Order: sequence, then structure tokens, then C-alpha cells
Amino acid sequence: MKILSKDFFSRFRLGDAGFLDNIRYENGVLLLGGWSVCKNEEPYQRPQKIHVVYGDRFIGEITNFAADRPDVAKAFAGFPLECGFSEKIYFACEEFEPLLTELFAESGNGNIYQLHKDQKYTFLFQLEPTGKCNLRCAQCPNTVYSGFNNRDISEEDIDAVSDMIRKSSTICYDGFGEFFLSRNIHKALEKTPLRSHVIVHTNGMLLDKNYDLVLNNAPPLRQLIVSLDSLREDRYGVIREGGSLWHVLANMRGLKKRRDRLGRTLPYIVPNMKIMNLNFDEFEDFIDLAAEFDSYLELVYLYDARKMSGSPEEDGLLAYEKQQPRFHSRQIATAVERAMEYARGKGVCIVWSGACPEPIRGTKDENDYIGTRRPIYECPMADCSTAMQLDGKIMFCVWQTSPLFNWRVEETTDLQRHPRAVRARAMIKKGIIPHECSGACCQFVGREISLENNNSCGNEVYSGGWQA
Ligand SMILES: C[S@@+](CC[C@H](N)C(=O)[O-])C[C@H]1O[C@@H](n2cnc3c(N)ncnc32)[C@H](O)[C@@H]1O
Ligand code: SF4
Ligand code: SF4
Repeated sequence: MKILSKDFFSRFRLGDAGFLDNIRYENGVLLLGGWSVCKNEEPYQRPQKIHVVYGDRFIGEITNFAADRPDVAKAFAGFPLECGFSEKIYFACEEFEPLLTELFAESGNGNIYQLHKDQKYTFLFQLEPTGKCNLRCAQCPNTVYSGFNNRDISEEDIDAVSDMIRKSSTICYDGFGEFFLSRNIHKALEKTPLRSHVIVHTNGMLLDKNYDLVLNNAPPLRQLIVSLDSLREDRYGVIREGGSLWHVLANMRGLKKRRDRLGRTLPYIVPNMKIMNLNFDEFEDFIDLAAEFDSYLELVYLYDARKMSGSPEEDGLLAYEKQQPRFHSRQIATAVERAMEYARGKGVCIVWSGACPEPIRGTKDENDYIGTRRPIYECPMADCSTAMQLDGKIMFCVWQTSPLFNWRVEETTDLQRHPRAVRARAMIKKGIIPHECSGACCQFVGREISLENNNSCGNEVYSGGWQA
């Protein structure tokens, strides 16, 4: 069986190409059900084939797309009715792990896309590479809290999480520090399977010193997201203290030039803008910039973090409280709507990141939350996600306002079995907010406070997983 190689990804593109709904393994037969249409190709087309990958190997191909999927054809105008597949792959495996199965669609043009999977077959791992940083962004916990975790990931740490790295569908090597200051992160990247979707955020200042690191590790690195926040020198200097806008932009362009010269598509270079009251008039400039790179723009609302207000930075150049989008939510909602239209015209894909993964409605609710609320029992994170910081915090997600436990002290990272993780998961499924999620700004909690009595939490509630 052929091994998945970096070469295979030279034609890789981000984009929707369908869904793997069902994975079943019985007596040496893998049954796969789903649908595929390469949505990013004009006109929409079914792939010429789907490559089936298990672990680091190609184990088969799917070429028959004759199954009717009326649900899909109804949901997406222009999609063919017969875009479904239902395939048997014969392969021997001692202990089958559904998480290791990935499908890659190959379009008629030879472009490769990865299919999405049902959440129960995915695992999202967020791992902090370092707590160190070379900037002092006014809105970042790393700046606001003195004595913030200053550790770098060690080889032992990487060993401790190697199984999570191995089985991850998506890995964010992100935390409250600067990725390129981590001295060991390349060792984690080397262990990361090529089939995983790896995302990294950076302030971009050290990118020029790390072109080789980036290009040698893409894949698995698929998205290098560069946090810019403003494209105006004066504002950039206030938000991203210590950084240089022109230097970061030059670094991004330098990386693109090298990547393109190698004839590769990865990593996508994605500008990032944190939406605040100060900068929401810059959407169109950001969309133009994204169009210059790979036509992806990441947007994130400034976290609705209560602890940050009243911090020493309140009197500084950028008062956190005044920057929170909930104070101008109507104007921001309208500006976002216009920006989405502009992006569509330019062919730029907007990706929502953070606790509020969709455009805000423009009105606050009784908890001052501006996103669209959903019941907590719909939160998938407790089942399929782990977030770890180097100071020992381990959580289902980065929005939890206090950790489940300290993985360094308890010497385990097993959220399936740890009693507190089991208890918190059960509460979420019953629709009860565990104290670790209290006041979180995610759409499942919407700043609501947990009624669970917990002394370690006290009365104070912090949003954004930042209890220092
Ligand atoms: C903490 S940084 C770490 C990575 C890298 N140092 C950087 O600046 O991209 C990860 C992401 O969080 C964002 N971030 C920092 N403070 C934030 C806040 N208060 N609200 C929303 N996003 C924030 C940053 O802009 C960045 O895109
Ligand atoms: S560069 Fe990133 S980690 Fe550093 S202070 Fe700014 S946002 Fe925080
Ligand atoms: S903070 Fe929100 S997203 Fe995270 S586990 Fe709790 S409910 Fe889910």
C-alpha cells in the first residue's frame, strides 16, 4: 500500500468537497458512506475519484458516485442528485480507529480536497507551543497578566501528547505566545500526520527567519494565519505594540514568493483581523489583502472577557472595555454584512474563528452576549476536543474559563477517563453549565454563569479561558 507523501499535497486546496457521514469496520471490510462535490471548481463537479487514507497509507479509491443524495441536492442548488457514495474497502487491521480514516477528493483538474467528517470521527487538538512572546499587544492576556506562563514546550511534553497528535484531525499549535519563539515545536510538527489539518497563528515578525521551517512542514501545516488587526500603521502600532506592519507584510509576501516558486499551494497564507470598535471600518482593506494571498481571511470578534476590563491596560493606549464589539454591535453587524458581500464579489472566503463562529446579530441579550445562543447540550467540544496550555491547564476548549485539572500535577491528559472531565461532560450533555464553562463567551454559554458550587472558581467569572 502506498504511503501518503508530501508530493500528494502539492495540488492540495482548502475548500468544501463533501462529507463522510459513515464509517464502519467489520471483519476486514471498511464501509464508507457520504457524498462528494468539488464546490470550489467551476462548474460544480463530482470528483474523478476519492483517495481513501487510513493512518499514513492509501488503502483504496472510490470512483462510483451513483447513490442519490436528495438531502444534499436540496441543500445546495446546482448539485447533482447522484453525488453519494457507499463503498466497501477490503483491508486488514487489528484495532480499527475511525479517527484515522480520511478521504481526499481529486477533481477533474487534479486538485485535491479533503472531505469533512461527521464530528464523531474527528478530534481537535489545541496545543500551546510556547508562552513567550516578542510583542505586547494591548488586548492579549500575555501582555495584560504579569507573570503569564513563559514556558516553552519540551520534548517530554511532546512525548506526553504524542497519541493526541497521532489521532488528531485538526491541530492548532496555538496559545498565548508566539509560535516562532518555540524552540521545540518543529519536533511536534515532525510527529504530526500529513493527513491532519494544522493551523498556526503568528504575529509574523519572525517569519522571514523561518521560511524553511514553514515550507518544510507544509503539509501538515495548511494554514499560516498572520494576526494583523489593522492595515493602518498608526492603529497597528497601538494594537500590536512592538510589531512593524510593513515588516510583517513583507514577510508574508516573501513566504508566498518562495512557496509559489516551489510550485506548492501550502501553507495558505491567511490574514487575521480581530474585530474591535477601533478597526471595523477596515474590512474591505483586509479583503483586498486576502485576495493578494490565497483569498482566505480569518475574522474573530475581540473576546468578551470581563476580566480584561479594569486591567491596568484600561488607562493605556487601548482600553479593552471600550473595544468590545457589543458596544457597537448594530454598526458592526451592518459593516460585516457589507463586508461579506464585498468578499463574495472578490472571491474571498471569510473564515470565522473564536468563540463566536458566525456574524453577530447586532443586539445584545440579557447576558450582554452578542452572538446567536444555542443550548449547551449541543456543544460538541467535550466529546471531540482538547486544549492544553503549558502551565498545566487542560480544557475541552479554549473558551472554558477555568481548567478541568492540571495535567502536569495529575500526570494525565486523558479527558475520556479523568473524573472531573467525565462529570463536566455529563453536565454539558444534560444541559447544565459546569463551573469550568461559567461565563464563557462561546455560543453555548453566552456569558451565562454556572450555578455549580465550586470554591476554586470563587465568585469571579472570567471569559475566554484566561484565568491566570
Ligand atoms: C494569542 S495569539 C498567539 C499567536 C501569535 N502570537 C499571534 O499573535 O497570532 C492567537 C490569536 O489570538 C488573538 N487574540 C489575542 N488576544 C485576543 C482577544 N482579546 N480577543 C480575540 N482574539 C485575541 C490574536 O490576535 C491571535 O490571532
Ligand atoms: S503577538 Fe500574539 S501572543 Fe504576543 S502579545 Fe500579541 S496576540 Fe499575544
Ligand atoms: S466553554 Fe462553551 S464551547 Fe467550551 S466546552 Fe464549555 S460550552 Fe463547550
